Amino acid sequence: MATIRRRYRTSTLAVATTAHLIVATETIRRQNGDQVHNGGGAGLTLDAMCAAILLAHDAEEAWELWGGGGGVSVRHRIAIVGCGAMAARHEEAVLAMPERVQVVATVDPELPKARRLAENLGGARYGASVEEFIGDIDAAIVVTPHDSHHDLGMLLLSAGKHVLMEKPLALSEGECLALIHQARRSGRVLMTAHPMRFHPLVQQAKRLMDDGALGTVFQMSIWTEQYHLRADAPWMSRVATLGGGQLFSHGCHYIDLLLWFLGRPVCGSHHGTRRTTEWLEGEGTSNVVLEFESGALGYHMGTWGARGTKLGYNIQVHGSKGMAEVDYLDGEVRIYTEERVETVLHAERRGKYIENELAHFLDCIESGAEPLTSAGSALQGLRVIWRLYAASAQGTVADLAGLGLGDDWDHPGMAVLPSPA
Ligand SMILES: NC(=O)c1ccc[n+]([C@@H]2O[C@H](COP(=O)([O-])OP(=O)(O)OC[C@H]3O[C@@H](n4cnc5c(N)ncnc54)[C@H](O)[C@@H]3O)[C@@H](O)[C@H]2O)c1
Repeated sequence: MATIRRRYRTSTLAVATTAHLIVATETIRRQNGDQVHNGGGAGLTLDAMCAAILLAHDAEEAWELWGGGGGVSVRHRIAIVGCGAMAARHEEAVLAMPERVQVVATVDPELPKARRLAENLGGARYGASVEEFIGDIDAAIVVTPHDSHHDLGMLLLSAGKHVLMEKPLALSEGECLALIHQARRSGRVLMTAHPMRFHPLVQQAKRLMDDGALGTVFQMSIWTEQYHLRADAPWMSRVATLGGGQLFSHGCHYIDLLLWFLGRPVCGSHHGTRRTTEWLEGEGTSNVVLEFESGALGYHMGTWGARGTKLGYNIQVHGSKGMAEVDYLDGEVRIYTEERVETVLHAERRGKYIENELAHFLDCIESGAEPLTSAGSALQGLRVIWRLYAASAQGTVADLAGLGLGDDWDHPGMAVLPSPA
């Protein structure tokens, strides 16, 4: 019971209306199966448990109302919106946790894609527009082209649905802030999909740094060398729909990691090129250097043009005691010191570990906690990129003051370079 109280006491209670409570309580009384469902509106699945807690005289009665404890579990009813390439990764994640999540709908204007995903997921309903299913879901994973993120997110959040939004959050600062403010008004979770933060190898490297095993950190370098040519997705070639080039679309993961590891940025520069990736209007290859308040430097080289690679995806964090390497190709974290090289973690398998990200999203829905990859933190990373793009167009160094993940980010106008004093 204590666990239920801990997990469901905060935001969900705040949104539970009297009508919800009555409906939910009746539902609880009727339920004996292994799911709690209550046939309607926003958040009712969770409200059912809140109702039990609120209406019961004591903990034991609440436990009984809720279903008697034994074997009762909550499954979040979700839609996957957008059934293209990345939806296949989310498919793996939802299949990995059938006890926590039920995909009730898959959505894509290209109906054969929605149907295929629905079949893979054991017969979810499918359709061309998420509005068809809005009354049947608690949450949605939005996996669509970047220029649709704002409108879909606003629709879902306004209807009281929790949203896991694929990166980048949206195409402009104004769109991002509108989404964040709508999530707050609706009392719903808006989380940005930056799965690297939930990847066991990356988390191990962060722990090593935070625990002092590397000493004083002075340099973090990230390479992402891919060959990426999306003839099947014309929206990816255009700045208007992608939002920029490789740095905005894919590099946003790694700017996010640099901020997460190294703290407050001070200034930075970006050089990009379209050479050999001319299918893209924006740059296909980027080199970014950031300087941080601590004095540490961050570097990111990302390309969609690598016809061969030695490093693949590789992260190196240098400190006064040694260097930690995240080696994606071998699936290992190693520490290099003057004396030795030691493997400190060998991943069970390759891949993005998207199920960790999904589990965190569900945890945040249940607890009301702010996601690690909150929309506000994602916006800070995008502001770094927008200022880098602007400075690079002017041939200057970008002022990145105010763009740390812990800085107060809730102001319009922070995406542009500050005017010279
Ligand atoms: N986290 C990662 O590692 C990662 C990797 C790849 C892509 N992504 C992100 O996933 C998202 C989708 O990328 P993708 O590669 O799957 O693109 P894609 O083009 O393969 O698929 C997008 C799908 O969305 C559909 N769609 C368009 N508008 C829609 C709407 N209004 N409602 C429902 N569906 C709609 C399209 O028909 C298409 O099938 C992007 O935000 C991208 O940046 C993330």
